[in-house]
Amino acid sequence: MVKIWFMDNEETDQRLEHHRNPPQYLELADLYRKTGVEYFKINADEYQSDKILSELRAKRGYTYDDEITCSEKCLPDYANKLKAFFTEHLHTDEEIRLILEGTGYFDVRDDEENWLRIEVIKGDLIIIPAGIYHRFSLDMNNFIRTRRYFVGEPVWTAHNRPADEMDCRKSYVKHQSEHFVQFNKA
Ligand SMILES: [Fe+2]
Repeated sequence: MVKIWFMDNEETDQRLEHHRNPPQYLELADLYRKTGVEYFKINADEYQSDKILSELRAKRGYTYDDEITCSEKCLPDYANKLKAFFTEHLHTDEEIRLILEGTGYFDVRDDEENWLRIEVIKGDLIIIPAGIYHRFSLDMNNFIRTRRYFVGEPVWTAHNRPADEMDCRKSYVKHQSEHFVQFNKA
């Protein structure tokens, strides 16, 4: 099961766990209610024939997909790339990632400005909604291989915070105030 916890505010290495003391975990259902982030478990070894994934792709129109590896070897200027991924930002579209190998952290803001840390491992598929402030970090293993999905032609542009005047942000905040109930039914 995916692990989610409230982060501390320590300025130490972003790749550490950053648990609060004592650790404070969050259930998956509460993550959705607070942030709209969705989670699915996929068979990473046979993802091409995974039923949950193919249904998800068909239902939500994820027509594009590719693969990306983040590691010291694969990414030139690794230290600076890590910092860029870790800069708080949002996108105009969903960020969809299926973890094929390795591990990492997606951090998302909740409705009270807390950072929630989502630990992702092989087989986890996570959907970060459009308009949510978030960031990504590798962990101490320094390796992750993921598949990315997108509706139509991909746009990977990150808009750093503050981006409160963007339509996608306004729409996100509205759904958040409704705990994503209506959004889910649509
Ligand atoms: Fe992002």
